[in-house]
Amino acid sequence: MDVLLLPLFFLLIVFPVAIVVPSKAADDSRDCPIQRCRDDGPDIKFPFRLKHYPPHCGHPEFEVVCSSSFNNLTMMKLSSSSGLLPIQNIDYEAQHFSMYDADGCLPRRLLNFTISTNSLFQQARYYRLNYYSCMFKYRYHGDNSKITLLNCSTAQNFSMGMNYGSYFPVRCLSVPGHYQVIGAVPETSKADLPVPTCTSLRQLYLPLRRVNANMHHCEPDNVLWLLWDPWDFPACQNCNRRMEDCSFNYSSNEMLKCHPFIPRHKPRGM
Ligand SMILES: *[C@@H]1O[C@H](CO)[C@@H](O)[C@H](O)[C@H]1NC(C)=O
Ligand SMILES: *[C@@H]1O[C@H](CO)[C@@H](O)[C@H](O)[C@H]1NC(C)=O
Ligand SMILES: *[C@@H]1O[C@H](CO)[C@@H](O)[C@H](O)[C@H]1NC(C)=O
Ligand SMILES: *[C@@H]1O[C@H](CO)[C@@H](O)[C@H](O)[C@H]1NC(C)=O
Ligand SMILES: *[C@@H]1O[C@H](CO)[C@@H](O)[C@H](O)[C@H]1NC(C)=O
Repeated sequence: MDVLLLPLFFLLIVFPVAIVVPSKAADDSRDCPIQRCRDDGPDIKFPFRLKHYPPHCGHPEFEVVCSSSFNNLTMMKLSSSSGLLPIQNIDYEAQHFSMYDADGCLPRRLLNFTISTNSLFQQARYYRLNYYSCMFKYRYHGDNSKITLLNCSTAQNFSMGMNYGSYFPVRCLSVPGHYQVIGAVPETSKADLPVPTCTSLRQLYLPLRRVNANMHHCEPDNVLWLLWDPWDFPACQNCNRRMEDCSFNYSSNEMLKCHPFIPRHKPRGM
């Protein structure tokens, strides 16, 4: 009996190995050489993936296109309706990237789409000093604060820092002499608005920057910062959070992987 079962044991032990080897080869990071769209553009590597690369080279939400018609800019969509936006920079260590509007009017782009709350990248809300360095009449523009964009029909030409920083003009959306788009924190009252003829367009997370280092003097920034968290990726869902880390290998273009914490604080089994 024992002798007859031996080949069966042998098969059971060897077979899984034979199946695992080819699937590892199929995920080979050698299919995914690190590339750039242009010499001064960011490196494209996991989780970003160039459109013509095999699917395993990155995550579908991070599909990068090199624009052939537009100076070889590194372009990506932030949602199905966002259209392609150029990527300015990617910091793989800090896990953030920045995008901008090539026409210099980020608010116009942001009015047109929403990043899904399920998306693997999310807009940074208080990441850089600039994001919370603007003082409005009631409070700082900061943690999780939204901006309401209003469209005011008026022939006036508003300037910045008026009315103790209750609002700021969004020049690139305005047509002087006809209408002015302004931004304000949502709790702004009608009495603080420059004219009574404003209608709300939308609330959104709008990056701001100071003008002349004056915290009452802010305007929309043209740069959008986004963060990603490796733990949100499907490849990390099976890691044991207490015993393992899930990270990229930054010196090679390798996918996310579970691996033991280094250094380990506790011996295994305790
Ligand atoms: C864009 O890329 C093509 C092909 O790599 C190259 O020939 C061209 O000089 C690039 N153009 C710019 C503006 O970088
Ligand atoms: C806004 O979205 C519409 C429909 O998707 C599109 O046609 C239009 O070009 C977009 N506008 C901008 C500024 O992205
Ligand atoms: C603001 O309102 C004017 C009409 O008063 C309209 O033509 C314009 O498109 C509006 N701007 C935006 C950004 O919705
Ligand atoms: C609006 O006011 C600003 C600041 O005073 C000025 O620079 C700009 O030329 C004015 N625009 C128009 C169309 O009057
Ligand atoms: C990361 O990749 C480099 C280059 O391929 C390799 O030498 C190194 O051992 C890898 N590190 C880890 C932790 O896998």
